[in-house]
Amino acid sequence: MTTRRVWQMPSAGSLERLAQVTEDLPPPGPGEARVRVEAIGLNFADVFASLGLYSATPPGAFVPGLECAGIVEALGPPRAGGEAAGTAVALGDRVMVLTRFGGYATALNADTRYLVPIPSDWTMTQGAAYLVQALTAWYGLVHLGALAPGQVVLIHSAAGGVGLRAVAMARASGASVIGTVGHADKVPVLEGHGLARGQVIVRDAARFAAQLDAALAAIGAPGFDLVFDALAGPFFLPALVRLAPEGRHVLYGAADFMPSGARPNWLRLAWQYLRRPRLDPMKLIDKNRSVMGFNLIWLFEHAERLPASAVAALALSPTPAHIGARFPFEEMPRALRALQSGRTTGKVVVEP
Ligand SMILES: NC(=O)c1ccc[n+]([C@@H]2O[C@H](COP(=O)([O-])OP(=O)(O)OC[C@H]3O[C@@H](n4cnc5c(N)ncnc54)[C@H](OP(=O)(O)O)[C@@H]3O)[C@@H](O)[C@H]2O)c1
Repeated sequence: MTTRRVWQMPSAGSLERLAQVTEDLPPPGPGEARVRVEAIGLNFADVFASLGLYSATPPGAFVPGLECAGIVEALGPPRAGGEAAGTAVALGDRVMVLTRFGGYATALNADTRYLVPIPSDWTMTQGAAYLVQALTAWYGLVHLGALAPGQVVLIHSAAGGVGLRAVAMARASGASVIGTVGHADKVPVLEGHGLARGQVIVRDAARFAAQLDAALAAIGAPGFDLVFDALAGPFFLPALVRLAPEGRHVLYGAADFMPSGARPNWLRLAWQYLRRPRLDPMKLIDKNRSVMGFNLIWLFEHAERLPASAVAALALSPTPAHIGARFPFEEMPRALRALQSGRTTGKVVVEP
């Protein structure tokens, strides 16, 4: 038995409920490895889950966290069905860990099928910052979005964790990128990742359509081939109607719905929900356009597909993530609030 510390939500609903707990961790079960965690990657979904706004959140008490990185310290017995735990990993290996919740911990038992070796020249912090966002960008842009060289891609929240990875993957694929951000102070981050000033839109809801037209005119493109959108809200339809024929609008989040306080303002959420974008599917036929949606948690349930997806993401975009902010383990609530604010860039990482 090992003792560990976790950040636990007694129940979803308010960020103020997050509390540090010391508890025993049982030995790893069949097909599991115990990982000593050295870095935890935060995801926007962690905030939604803690607020009770994420459908995949477990009922009752839970430990948030979808990914971390650390060292394999112990291996459990073989998995039922004969496959040996530890066939892919060995004691002492440095691994990235995907976990369906439970990542906010100093140690955890993880299914070995969800462990990916950290590239030898990456730090643990970089290891904790890669998988969820790279898999999200790869799945949305490449697997669903059918991104191809020469296409024009609109990437919302381009300076965020998923956003910067999507920019890197789109550029590596030979696409032209237009990125959007919520605040002008994020523009230099995107310039540091290969976009020119004219390729970045600082979103203004009142004139967003004109901003998109100007960006398309500047590169001489008639429309977007792909829109990568985790905002929803008022930015959805102006981008959708600027899809070129055969264009795909991939919707994978609703950051516009993020409450600013420690708990949801249900009245405001209801108002936003009533005003959510609607579309006429018949018009998609007329214009040869598609709208798609996905939730990566679905891929978590298909462990057999994860290794190939991780290999494909790493092959397309092998550079470590941009770490925008680092916090000690004790400051987990502050780290979550920073991510919730929408002002961070790249990945937020917490280090036990
Ligand atoms: N479907 C899936 O499986 C999946 C998987 C991973 C992530 N996601 C989604 O992808 C998005 C990016 O995730 P991430 O972890 O990389 O986070 P992130 O992009 O680093 O941070 C979220 C960003 O959302 C933007 N935003 C827009 N409206 C906001 C609001 N009202 N409050 C706060 N932020 C707001 C902000 O950027 P700007 O203001 O610059 O736009 C903010 O930086 C999130 O919406 C997340 O839920 C979905």
